[in-house]
Amino acid sequence: LWCHPPRDAGSDTSSTTLTWCMTELIRYPATMARAQAEVREAFKGKTTITEDDFARANLSYLTFVVKEALRLHCPVPLLVPRKCRETCQVMGYDIPKGTCVFINVWAICRDAKYWEDAEEFKPERFENTSLDYKGTNYEFLPFGSGRRMCPGTNLGVANMELALASLLYQFDWKLPSGVEPKDVDVGEAPGLIGKKNTGLLVHPVSRLFDPVNA
Ligand code: HEM
Repeated sequence: LWCHPPRDAGSDTSSTTLTWCMTELIRYPATMARAQAEVREAFKGKTTITEDDFARANLSYLTFVVKEALRLHCPVPLLVPRKCRETCQVMGYDIPKGTCVFINVWAICRDAKYWEDAEEFKPERFENTSLDYKGTNYEFLPFGSGRRMCPGTNLGVANMELALASLLYQFDWKLPSGVEPKDVDVGEAPGLIGKKNTGLLVHPVSRLFDPVNA
């Protein structure tokens, strides 16, 4: 039933999130421009970005982009089901011992009670906050929380950030002719992983640059 970790050890979740990052950046050209400017300034003059380069750089906006994609498109919309260990009351409801509890982090991450302009892709919302996905901010749990929280969080995030930085550094991205940013489909497919319903069609335009003066 629950197949993200055993089946793919996180590759599906990471590639899904990366697709959502690119989808939202294409839909919001000013956000794309800001993310690209940050990456291009940080790695100015380099032909490729290595893990060491990445570790030394301080790409705060890129981290906000990844966080915002994780918020708006929680890759695992329902956490691993929990079983209630003792009878209790939550918000006036009696929950009997043994009840199976599904936590809909997708809905919580889009709840207007906790998020301003909840349906908008706004990486800036993470600026000047300590809001993180480490499992203690309950309005933002893309990796779950508690003992069963995702053990691959740091690896997953590092992989996504490095791949995204490389995509933004090396290429400009164009939509097929006649397609406007607002036309890009943001439908999510039903299933355990919140994948994009249709493929993202974009043209990479290689940046022809002089590695010394780029
Ligand atoms: C974007 C990347 C990823 C996301 C969003 C993600 C999300 C999640 C979530 C929500 C859970 C359930 C946590 C809970 O119910 O509290 C989980 C469990 C798990 N994840 Fe990930 N994951 C990602 C990447 C990875 C990677 C890269 C690995 C390993 C290399 C990994 C391995 C696991 C394992 C083994 C579990 C099961 C833990 C347990 O049940 O005790 N995940 N993940």
